[in-house]
Amino acid sequence: MNPVEIIVKKRDGKKLTKEEISFLIKSYVDGSLADYQMSAFAMAVYFNGLTDEETSILTFEMINSGETIDLSQISGLKIDKHSTGGVGDKTSMILAPLVASFGIPVPMMSGRGLGHTGGTLDKLESIPGFRVDLEVNEFKKILSEVGFAMMGQTKDICPADKKLYSLRDVTGTVASIPLICASIMGKKIAEGIDGLVLDVKTGSGAFIPEKSETIKLAQGLVRIGELAGKKTIALLTDMSQPLGNYVGNWLEIKECIEILQDGKGAKDLVDLTLALSGAMLLLGKKTDSISEGIELCRKKLESGEPFELFKKSVVAQGGDLSVIEKPDSYPKSKFEFDFVAEKDGFISEFNNYEIGMTAVNLGAGRMKVTDKIEPKAGMIFQKRVGSKVKKGEGIAKVFTELENSIEPAKLRLANSVVISEKQSQKSDLIQNLIDSEGIHEWNDFCK
Ligand code: URA
Repeated sequence: MNPVEIIVKKRDGKKLTKEEISFLIKSYVDGSLADYQMSAFAMAVYFNGLTDEETSILTFEMINSGETIDLSQISGLKIDKHSTGGVGDKTSMILAPLVASFGIPVPMMSGRGLGHTGGTLDKLESIPGFRVDLEVNEFKKILSEVGFAMMGQTKDICPADKKLYSLRDVTGTVASIPLICASIMGKKIAEGIDGLVLDVKTGSGAFIPEKSETIKLAQGLVRIGELAGKKTIALLTDMSQPLGNYVGNWLEIKECIEILQDGKGAKDLVDLTLALSGAMLLLGKKTDSISEGIELCRKKLESGEPFELFKKSVVAQGGDLSVIEKPDSYPKSKFEFDFVAEKDGFISEFNNYEIGMTAVNLGAGRMKVTDKIEPKAGMIFQKRVGSKVKKGEGIAKVFTELENSIEPAKLRLANSVVISEKQSQKSDLIQNLIDSEGIHEWNDFCK
C-alpha cells in the first residue's frame, strides 16, 4: 500500500478501509511511516472527520498496537472514570478512593497535562516520591491491596496512541472528535475495565468547547465503549470556569486532601465528584440508581474513610505521607500576587482556556514536552462566575517561581474575566447524561 494515496484519500474526504487504517497505524508504530506523513493524515482527519466505522477501526488498531491488561484475577467489576480534560479538574483523586471504599476496584491509567489542561499524573507527582511509572504487575498488586491504583500509560499499552498523541499535541490536531475518541477509548479498553464513566467537558476550558460538538464527542465515546462490551455512561459537564477553587498541581492535591477529610469544600467540585462516583457505583452494581449512589457516596465522603484509603495509596506508590497529613508543611512559592477586579460589578464570564494557559505559563504545565513542571505554581480562586466584586478586590491569589511570568500573567488574567453590571445566569454544572439509550437531561435523569 502507498501511504500517500491513503492520506490523499482522506484529504479528499473519502472513506478508508480497515486494511488502509491498519496499514497506517502499523507502519507508524514500526517507524516506516514518517511523523510528517502521520501529521498530514491527522490534519486530514481533523478537517474531514472519520465515519463511526472508521473511528471504531482506528480505536481497535490502537489497542492491537500493544498489550492489554488482564484484571480477571481481581474480583469484582472494575470501573474507571475518565475526563476529556480541563482546568482544576481533580475529581480522580477524590473519587478513586471513595468508589474503592465500596469494594469496587478502580484501575486508573491517567494522562499528563495537555495544552491548557492539567493532568492527573503531574498532580500526583507533586507529592514528593509518588511514582506513577508502575509496571503492570505492581499496578495489579496495588489495585488488589489498596482497591485503586493510578499509573501512566506504559510503553506497551496503545503505543500507537502514545506516539500519535504527542504528534497531535504539536500539530494542532488535538481537537478532533474521532481522534479523541480513538485515543481515550483505546487506552480505557486496553486497561481491562468492565465499565467506564466519562466526564465530557464543555465550555471555554474544554478541548471541544461547543456544546453540540461535545455531545457528538460523548456519543462517539459511549458508542465505542459499548461496542467493546464495556458499559459506558458519559456526563456532559461545565468547564467554563475552573473546577473547584484551586488550579495547579500541588494546590489541587491540597484541595482534594481538604475534601477527603470531611466531604466539605468547593460545591461544584464536591457535587461533580459525587455524581461521577454515583454513576460508578451504578456500573459497579452497588446501587440501582445514580441518585442512590450519590447519597451513599456523600455519607462515605463525610466519614473520612476514603481519606484513609488515599493515604494507603500514597504509601503504596512511594509518596511522602507527611505532606498529606500536614499539607501546610509543603514548601511555599517564591512569588505570590493578587489577580484583582478592574471595576465594580459581577463576574459574568471567565475565559477558562486563558486561565489554563496562564497556569501553564506560571510553570504548572508544559510548553514543550521536555519542560519541567513546577508543582507549587498555580492559583487559588476566591471568586466564581456570579460573584459580586469591587474594584481592586482579589479574584484569585497567584503563585509562581518564575519572576518573569508575573506581568504576562496579570495581563492574561485581566483579559480572562468579564465583569458586568448585572448578575448573569451561570451554566449548569452537570448538563446531560449520555448512554447507549440516548441523551438525557441531567435534572430529569437524576432527581
Ligand atoms: N485525552 C486523551 O487521552 N486523548 C485525547 O486525544 C485527548 C484527551
